[in-house]
Amino acid sequence: MFFIAGGTGFIGKHLMNALGAKGCNARCLVRSEDKALICRSLGFEAAIGDITDRESLKGKLDGCDTVIHLVGIIEEKGSMTFEKVHVEGTRNLADEARKAGVRHIFYQSALGASAASWAKYYKTKAEAEEIVKASGIAYTIFRPSLVVGEGDGFTEKLKELVRVGPFIPVPGSGKAKLQPIYVEDWVKCFMTLFLNGLRNTDYGSRIYEFGGPEHLTYNEIVLQLMEALSISKPVIHIPIKFIKMSLPFYGISKGIGNFLGKKIPSVTAEQLSLLQLDNICDKESVEKSFGFVPMKYGEALKLFIKERR
Ligand SMILES: NC(=O)c1ccc[n+]([C@@H]2O[C@H](COP(=O)([O-])OP(=O)(O)OC[C@H]3O[C@@H](n4cnc5c(N)ncnc54)[C@H](OP(=O)(O)O)[C@@H]3O)[C@@H](O)[C@H]2O)c1
Repeated sequence: MFFIAGGTGFIGKHLMNALGAKGCNARCLVRSEDKALICRSLGFEAAIGDITDRESLKGKLDGCDTVIHLVGIIEEKGSMTFEKVHVEGTRNLADEARKAGVRHIFYQSALGASAASWAKYYKTKAEAEEIVKASGIAYTIFRPSLVVGEGDGFTEKLKELVRVGPFIPVPGSGKAKLQPIYVEDWVKCFMTLFLNGLRNTDYGSRIYEFGGPEHLTYNEIVLQLMEALSISKPVIHIPIKFIKMSLPFYGISKGIGNFLGKKIPSVTAEQLSLLQLDNICDKESVEKSFGFVPMKYGEALKLFIKERR
């Protein structure tokens, strides 16, 4: 049986549908009764717990052979810091997995994860990877680039930005490159490993860095999204210097919003800085590791944007 942590999130929901279609047994870690009901309605077991609360995990992994760990945050909120969720949470989960006799841990890290990174998101993802690697359990680590699809946080925020007001604010030059991969292609990558015996005792351990088939600048992503939404507006580049200057007074989104005279979705200082950096790998990474060519961003947008316009 799979133990899935983070199954109620954007990527997790797509994965749960695929596992359900294959008739897999899974127990999902959830943080509320409402989410437990959703998991049960899909035919899975639900266990209430929080990876940052070790006590809440006790005994919950019993009888499971494989852990799928998709828990992650993109923004710190209150006591839920990157350190607490990514590092402590992964340590708690790995310890419980060992106690339960789990044979394989799948961990979703991120492209760019590095212990040397200035970004807490990437630094703590790398620390979590080390915990998984040192757990003594065979592991698979995915380091995907931006994953897009029905309900992804990045596109939802960008859609708001594109829809609000007479023009579209882009922080900085917008020339940093990303490598978006469609969520169903991400699921296909996971299912390829699953069908190749991920749960077998002799499967071994490996890290996969991958992304979609194109390197696209943030500007290109904005333009393609506008096209998918049939929206045409001018793009205005907001100097990063200005946004950072206004930060102590307004916060970033309020700062940009104030400058533009409109309300825009919230973004943290770290997210803003990350948008200025390339986050890419080999364009053929999926084909080389999983044997298929993933969808281009524009094709994926047609699948998940059109019907929701
Ligand atoms: N989306 C991307 O572009 C992308 C790219 C690279 C890597 N990743 C990584 O992939 C993973 C999944 O991403 P996503 O976009 O699907 O994220 P998401 O939609 O924000 O989902 C996060 C999941 O983690 C759960 N969670 C958060 N804190 C928890 C805690 N303390 N205890 C237990 N569960 C907790 C959430 O539960 P609730 O439903 O209760 O909130 C949710 O199921 C993350 O680790 C993320 O860093 C994502």
